[in-house]
Amino acid sequence: MKNVVLLGPPGAGKGTVASRLVQAFGFLHVSTGDMLREEVAKGTPLGELARGYMARGELVPDEVILSLVQQRVDAQKGVLFDGFPRTVAQAEGLERFTTVDVVVFLEVDREEVVRRLSSRRICEKCGAVYNLVTQPPKEPGKCDRCGGALLQREDDKPEVVARRFEVYMRDSAPLVAYYEGRGLLRRVRADRAPEEVFRAVAEVLR
Ligand code: AP5
Repeated sequence: MKNVVLLGPPGAGKGTVASRLVQAFGFLHVSTGDMLREEVAKGTPLGELARGYMARGELVPDEVILSLVQQRVDAQKGVLFDGFPRTVAQAEGLERFTTVDVVVFLEVDREEVVRRLSSRRICEKCGAVYNLVTQPPKEPGKCDRCGGALLQREDDKPEVVARRFEVYMRDSAPLVAYYEGRGLLRRVRADRAPEEVFRAVAEVLR
């Protein structure tokens, strides 16, 4: 099985397509954003360290992220990396403990991601992702899966979204050329319905 990296700006739909890919292909899903949010919720020392960076829309330091990911995957195959690597240093670090077979770059413009993030809601209990415009819950404010309350992520406030996008352009966008240079990059248009994005990514992986 392949190791796959999902690359794309904040709000490109990485988490949304990842959950469908996990169901369809059985990947081990490694989302550094989800892992960090769990640490924050549990109040661990790592969570305490990460909290401020995340609230400001900055990246958590590379060495912290690399050790978190390495503990989870170590040479395992069939991993879907979501939101990692996010810097060239993280990409180089990843190559030291496992291989990357394909990188799917979800292309979507800034206006669209700002629209998506301002209307995103997350279940406080199970983490399911909704969108008030494109993927609303059946009952307002309530998770379809577990009935939990739907909340806005702290870092989805407009000023933090703007910072996250700047940080993406400065630190993460160079990964497109990095992986293109290695012949691993596949571009997928992500400005389409979630089902179409899933089908296009699944096609790349087959
Ligand atoms: P993280 O949680 O990884 O945030 P992100 O990369 O900014 O990505 P998002 O989760 O915001 O968006 P997404 O692309 O998954 O989109 P989603 O599917 O939810 O990271 C958060 C923070 O943690 C970072 O800022 C940083 O501080 C830290 N961090 C994490 N990883 C790190 C790392 N490796 N190094 C350092 N720091 C790290 O979709 C968004 C919305 O759009 C949803 O409402 C969804 O329903 C909707 N939607 C999805 N697809 C579509 C579609 N096709 N059409 C219409 N709507 C759609």
